[in-house]
Amino acid sequence: MSKQALWSGRFEEEMDNSTLEFTSSLDIDTMLSFYDVMGSLAHVRMLKKCNIIPSEDADRIIEGLKTIVSEMEEGTFEIDDSLEDIHTNVEFRLTDLIGPAGGKLHTGRSRNDQVATDFRMYLRTAVLDEVSMIDKLIDSLITIAKDHGETIMPGFTHMQHAQPVTLAQHMLAYVFKFSRDASRFLDAFDRMNLCPLGSAALAGTTYPIDRQMTAKALGFDGPTENSMDSVSDRDFVTELAFCASLTANHLSSMAEELVLWSSQEFGFIEMDDRYTTGSSIMPQKKNPDIAELIRGRTGSVTGSLVTMLMLTKGLPLSYNRDLQEDKAPLMMSLETLSSCLEMMSKLVATMTVKKDRMLKSVKSGFINATDLADYLVTKGMPFREAHGVVGSAVRYCIEKGKDLDSLTLEEFKGFSDLIENDVYQFIDVKNCVERRISMGGTSSTSTDYQLMTAIQGYMGREETVRQMNDFLESCWNELLE
Ligand code: ARG
Repeated sequence: MSKQALWSGRFEEEMDNSTLEFTSSLDIDTMLSFYDVMGSLAHVRMLKKCNIIPSEDADRIIEGLKTIVSEMEEGTFEIDDSLEDIHTNVEFRLTDLIGPAGGKLHTGRSRNDQVATDFRMYLRTAVLDEVSMIDKLIDSLITIAKDHGETIMPGFTHMQHAQPVTLAQHMLAYVFKFSRDASRFLDAFDRMNLCPLGSAALAGTTYPIDRQMTAKALGFDGPTENSMDSVSDRDFVTELAFCASLTANHLSSMAEELVLWSSQEFGFIEMDDRYTTGSSIMPQKKNPDIAELIRGRTGSVTGSLVTMLMLTKGLPLSYNRDLQEDKAPLMMSLETLSSCLEMMSKLVATMTVKKDRMLKSVKSGFINATDLADYLVTKGMPFREAHGVVGSAVRYCIEKGKDLDSLTLEEFKGFSDLIENDVYQFIDVKNCVERRISMGGTSSTSTDYQLMTAIQGYMGREETVRQMNDFLESCWNELLE
């Protein structure tokens, strides 16, 4: 049988090789191979049940498709470059295996709904993997938070010393950011989890197909509502590109902080030798290259989001070949994100926290100034007035080269008569931290509560991901029965 395009009938001349090369999507859509065959299995079982094709032909197609899956698993399925995409490759192999009956598989569907279905199936698994990777990082951060509920460090605003916090509080801030990223991916998963198969080229089909049946067999929540929307829609791709970008943004902030923290100026952490690099000329160097690359690669992840928005902007309905360009950007962005998440997990799980340096740093920069103002408030002074008094005290300290803790009671009294000996206890950084018992605050009671919430969220997601993976696995097994 000559290997021609599926659509060659209408053409007098064969297409030029350069046309094939330019239009082929094989380099990317071979990634969809498994899902393409699963989609075909669901489709042919439906064609059989709805009596659209003869039972015997359907059975032979099913057997042929099963053989193809085995070949793919064994690595013996040969991709023919002269066939423009994975759908064509599967159909040709099927016909090779079972003869002309293979040609009945494409009844009542089109590559337009096929590829939209395949990509959604591929992305479901990719999203679940991404969520697991995020949760792995969260797990590493939670471990640090658990160990450092009493490790006091400066909290910053505008990169200036602001108020003392614990390392637990700082790590938990990232835990909640990444938890939202994970749940954002799962929200997008739910919106994406509808099946376009049976939308055919654009307008639906004249055959009495059962779209509920194929959707169910492929593990979708149901079929999509509108055939033209189904073949022209790629907003699930753009949405996931956004989910990835936002996660990458969070990673880039964390990477930036780790770069700063490992510098001589901060010295808050030391990265493990295994996850750092050296310099070819400066023997003393230990460079935070992993963190820098994570920070840098965020660019390409966001680039994919912009690509998707530009790719789909202004496209008329319904299918246009432009849509073929949707896969590479998202696949690449998810791959980059996975590796960044993995390396970040390793980096934080192995770094050494230098508590002494953190504490030393917290003693500078009048980080307990707000607490001195709060102290005056407890003695009856309005906060606004207290703010002014403490401001003058800070100015005085700067002139004298002192910090607030080292002022004598006499010097304190010079600013307000309300100040007594108990001020020293009150403005001790440990007490400053422990008094912040408001919900979400940095005290140990508040961070313990945050830890509990974070762990519950994480465990819930882990269960969702496990159940969904098991469920999809059971769908594939059923289709292959
Ligand atoms: N390779 C195409 C894609 O990824 C598959 C659909 C082809 N449809 C068509 N009408 N040429 O979008």
